[in-house]
Amino acid sequence: DSVVHRLWRGRVSSNMLSPRLQQAMKEYMSANKHSVSYKGHRKTNQSAKELLCQMKAQAQLRTLDGSEEPFSSLGWVDFVPSLPLENLSGQQEKSSFKSCAVVTSAGAMLRSGLGKEIDSHDAVLRFNSAPTEGYERDVGNKTSIRIINSQILANPTYQFNTSSIYKNVTLVAWDPAPYSVNLHKWYTSPDYDLFGPYVDHRKVHPDQPFYILHPSYVWKLWDLIQSNTQENIQPNPPSSGFIGILQMMALCEQVHVYEYIPSMRQTDLCHYHERYYDSACTLGAYHPLLYEKSLIQRINTGPESDLRRKGCVTLPGFSTVNC
Ligand code: C5P
Repeated sequence: DSVVHRLWRGRVSSNMLSPRLQQAMKEYMSANKHSVSYKGHRKTNQSAKELLCQMKAQAQLRTLDGSEEPFSSLGWVDFVPSLPLENLSGQQEKSSFKSCAVVTSAGAMLRSGLGKEIDSHDAVLRFNSAPTEGYERDVGNKTSIRIINSQILANPTYQFNTSSIYKNVTLVAWDPAPYSVNLHKWYTSPDYDLFGPYVDHRKVHPDQPFYILHPSYVWKLWDLIQSNTQENIQPNPPSSGFIGILQMMALCEQVHVYEYIPSMRQTDLCHYHERYYDSACTLGAYHPLLYEKSLIQRINTGPESDLRRKGCVTLPGFSTVNC
């Protein structure tokens, strides 16, 4: 059975990966760059409903609000957007986007013809530097929110300050702090410097909604994956994809995710917008991607035909889950 077929059934193990990816995984385990030490329980075999309730309880969306040191002394309370991300849709009620799309950057988006379907959702989430221009037929052209990792802010090749990709959308940036979530340590040595570019951008574009995810949110998502996985997962943050999916479950009544669990178009092409081939992009090496995807498949309410044809998973928003 191929890895993808196993993913469609939600049953995965690292020994399904190629020797190269298994080796890479091992090296990330022993490096333990973020000093992760998991103290929580492992709940195997939770039902989909139990899983959803655990997610709803543990994965409460949280952004930096400037109330904690060192950010409070830097005046960030008045610096971050005054409208909380949770109220993004402009409504009083939380999670008032009805239907949302999460569009991964996977190579399998190519020749999907999903553009119209994606654009028909109330809000569309995209990742990092993934473009729409030139790919509209397959990925659509509407972008409501863009999640960006700190490399996008720190590395000049992404042209964060000038590229139209980052304009007229809500931006949500993230960077992994140490697992202990020491904000002082994080502020002085983030993975990539996001704080300088964030401050500069807020000053020039104070009206653009631009948030930084709280690192405790990122690690709570990691805990969630580990607590539902028998094997030890990579001690690195979840992928932007997983973070984006859980964020949208907090903001929307229903979430459709495209090409996270691969369709029949599955390919080693890393991104639809680049000619770079590496199976790690889909199956993971640094990120615990295989385990993230298995977890998401376990709460998928859509039919298997949607998976095969569209790589589409349908998930309930937290507001619709009664625990
Ligand atoms: O590579 P990047 O992180 O920008 O891609 C956005 C997200 O899309 C990833 O974090 C991952 O969750 C998902 N992805 C995927 N398979 C790929 C490429 C990306 O599942 N081949």
